[in-house]
Amino acid sequence: MAENNIDWANLSFGYMPTDYNVRCYYRNGAWGEMEICSEATINMHMAATCLHYGQEAFEGLKAFRCKDGKIRIFRMEANAERLQSTCRGIMMPELPTEKFCEMIKTVVKKNERFIPPYESGASLYIRPLLIGTGAQVGVRPANEYLFVVFVTPVGPYFKGGFSANPYVVIREFDRSAPLGTGVYKVGGNYAASLRANKKAHDLGYSCEFYLDAKEKKYIDEAGAANFFGIKNNTYITPESSSILPSITNRSLMQLAEDLGMKVERRQIPIEELETMEEAGACGTAAVISPIARIDDLEMNKSYVISKDGKPGPISKKLYDKLRAIQYGDEPDTHGWVTVID
Ligand code: PLP
Ligand code: COI
Repeated sequence: MAENNIDWANLSFGYMPTDYNVRCYYRNGAWGEMEICSEATINMHMAATCLHYGQEAFEGLKAFRCKDGKIRIFRMEANAERLQSTCRGIMMPELPTEKFCEMIKTVVKKNERFIPPYESGASLYIRPLLIGTGAQVGVRPANEYLFVVFVTPVGPYFKGGFSANPYVVIREFDRSAPLGTGVYKVGGNYAASLRANKKAHDLGYSCEFYLDAKEKKYIDEAGAANFFGIKNNTYITPESSSILPSITNRSLMQLAEDLGMKVERRQIPIEELETMEEAGACGTAAVISPIARIDDLEMNKSYVISKDGKPGPISKKLYDKLRAIQYGDEPDTHGWVTVID
């Protein structure tokens, strides 16, 4: 295994070249064989549907180097299923779970030297990508597709790591429509979020905060992450037709239940933030990013959740528990991890 001189402790959430990616083509109505590739570029037709009509889906998951020396990949079958749901949403052929998992395991193993060591607290981010490559000028699905998976070592998504951040409600832009593509992981949702994200940063906040697009009354998402709040020993997370079904959130709901908490998935009026004891944004990148405060500038309201800017005790417990399962420090009682020797 070749040596590398990576400063593991100071990795950010950014792209770093690695040795290999894996690819698979869909042609003539069928998926082909996995190919291992060392090129970082993709050569494609200028009329490919991903370039014009947004036939593009991606996923995000992580692999961890553990104390026992093994590699653990977190809930990859769930990512395979979510990708299939996205495929149905934007008329792309579904990639079978088995093929998805085989390709993930291969790309992780082939890039083993880029998996950050256990002690660093960093991980290997896995980015699967499915694009329409067939040429079309009319608006219709492509007849050819490419599925690629690359990996890159990453540190924390937010610079401060596990510390509380301020959010700002953006009412001016929606990331997705009530019956639109918010439930799918398609690139267009992220393009639609860029202006809101920039506005939040320009105003000095860590991230933008979305309300439901129809009524602007209920909490939707916390930037590119799901929202949860905690009060009265209950984990509360939004029910909405325009948010991405987060695998981290699903895992946290289960862990909250395991801790004897009640779990509620329902509409959350923004004003209910006043009664929340803790709140967080959750996703693969950050696991949990505790929310310090949410400002609703147009309404002249500031919902302060963490007065001292520190994560709450239940968020901390959930965060520690999930990380311990991911790193193999605690038993994987729900069958969430795939172990690779
Ligand atoms: N919501 C959005 C819009 C996201 O992009 C992500 C990230 O993947 C999430 C939520 C969190 O989902 P997951 O926990 O599956 O990473
Ligand atoms: C997440 O993994 O939580 C994300 O939000 C991914 C983001 C980089 C699109």
